[in-house]
Amino acid sequence: MYSEKVMDHFNHPRNVGEIEDPSGVGTVGNAKCGDIMRMYLDIDDNGIIQEAKFKTFGCGAAIATSSMATELVKGKTVQEALEVTNKAVMEALDGLPPVKVHCSLLAEEAIHAALWDYAKKNGIVIEGLKEPVSDIEERVDAE
Ligand code: FES
Repeated sequence: MYSEKVMDHFNHPRNVGEIEDPSGVGTVGNAKCGDIMRMYLDIDDNGIIQEAKFKTFGCGAAIATSSMATELVKGKTVQEALEVTNKAVMEALDGLPPVKVHCSLLAEEAIHAALWDYAKKNGIVIEGLKEPVSDIEERVDAE
């Protein structure tokens, strides 16, 4: 059912943790399954993502997709990171079962939410980036 790559990233997730004082951080959640993903980005003065870390309270596919998403955005510019869509993450994982596609969407949204936070903090506009709809950071922090 799951590809070897999915199992590998689930069993050995890369970049788990937090970044202290991140350039951008975003938290997203899926109301249906209740899974939550938080993504931290460290972005240098040239707009290159130097480090990416995540914390995911969620299913195995959510953990595998967050792990792969952090690997894919590292070393990219913020503009290039926008191309790390859920499709790109799924492809890099050799696919996901149809019922698990929404888990990869969470990863895409988490990247966007962290980039949005970075853009907001720095007063810049990232072309093509829309305000994330499911940023639930305030709700999570309030609980
Ligand atoms: Fe919801 Fe996987 S089941 S993120």
